[in-house]
Amino acid sequence: MEKIKMILDCDTGHDDAIALMLAAKNPSIDLLGVTVVAGNQILEKTLRNTLNVCQHLGIDVPVYGGMSGPMVRDQVVADDVHGESGLDGPVFGELKLEAQKEHAVHYLIRTLMESDGDITLVPVGPLSNIGMAMRLEPAIVKKIKRIVLMGGAYGLGNTTAAAEFNIYCDPEAAHIVFTSGVPVVMMGLDLTNTALADMQVIERMEAIGNKAGKLFGDIMRFTFHSQAVNGLSAGPVHDVTAVAYLIAPEIYNTKDMHVDIELNRGFCYGRTVCDYNDRFGLDKNVTVGLSLDLPKFWDIVENTLRIYD
Ligand code: RIB
Ligand code: CA
Repeated sequence: MEKIKMILDCDTGHDDAIALMLAAKNPSIDLLGVTVVAGNQILEKTLRNTLNVCQHLGIDVPVYGGMSGPMVRDQVVADDVHGESGLDGPVFGELKLEAQKEHAVHYLIRTLMESDGDITLVPVGPLSNIGMAMRLEPAIVKKIKRIVLMGGAYGLGNTTAAAEFNIYCDPEAAHIVFTSGVPVVMMGLDLTNTALADMQVIERMEAIGNKAGKLFGDIMRFTFHSQAVNGLSAGPVHDVTAVAYLIAPEIYNTKDMHVDIELNRGFCYGRTVCDYNDRFGLDKNVTVGLSLDLPKFWDIVENTLRIYD
C-alpha cells in the first residue's frame, strides 16, 4: 500500500513527542519533515525537545524551526502542564543534532509548491507556521491534500472555559487555516481527552523493552500528574490521535460540520465554534472527530513503538 506523505508541525511537548515517534516509524506513513512552532514552550525549547527525541531514537527526518510566536496576539506557553523545558521528565544525552537552516514557513511553501499536491499536513500545536505560510504564498492552499490537526473542541476548552490551547495560542492563524478551503480534520478535546495514558498503558509500553517504550514511559509518567490541572486522572496523548487518524481512519467516528474561530477578545476568544447541528447552514468545512476505538488505538501505538531498535 502506498505510504501517506505527511509533514508533522509540532510544539514538542509530551504528546507531540509520542506523535513524532508514531509518525516516524509507522509503515503507513512517509514522514517528509518536521516543522516546529512555539506553543507548549518558547521555540528554542520546543525545537530542542524535537531534536532530542529525533537524536535519542535515531529518527532521520529534517527538522525546521518556525514561528517563535503567534501572528497577532501575545504569546502563551503551557509550562504548567509540560514543565520548564516543555518536555520535563525524560533525560537526554548531549544534543548534537541540528535543525535545518531553512525557516519552517519557507520549507512548507517550497515543499508544497514542488509537490504533486499529495502531502498531508499534521499540525499538533498552534497554527502559526501554517497560517503564515498560507498568507506568504496563497498558492499552497491548492497544493495541500488535507490538514489533520489536533486542536479545538466542540465542548469545553482546556486553557479557558471556551478555548483549547493550540487554537487559543494563535486564533488568527487558526481562522486562516479553518477558512482556507483546504479539507480539515479536527481532533478536538472531546475525542483526545479520552486517549489517556494511564498507568496500565504506561507499563504496557515500557514492557516493550526498547528505547522507544522506555521513552514513552519517561514522557507520560510526567504528565500523569501534571494533567491534574485539567481535571484529568492521567495524561492524554492528544496529538497522537491526529497521526493515528492517517493510519487507521476506520477506528474513528466523525461528523462533518461548519467550524470557525471566535476572534472577538472576550470570554470565547480562540474558541472553535462548531455548528454540530448545522444551525447556520454554512459549508461543512471540517470533519470533527467524535470518538475512537481506544483498544485499537493503543495497539497501533504499541505495534509502532515495537518497530524501534
Ligand atoms: O490542548 C492540547 C494541545 O496543547 C496538545 O497539542 C498539547 O501538546 C498542547 O500543545
Ligand atoms: Ca502539541
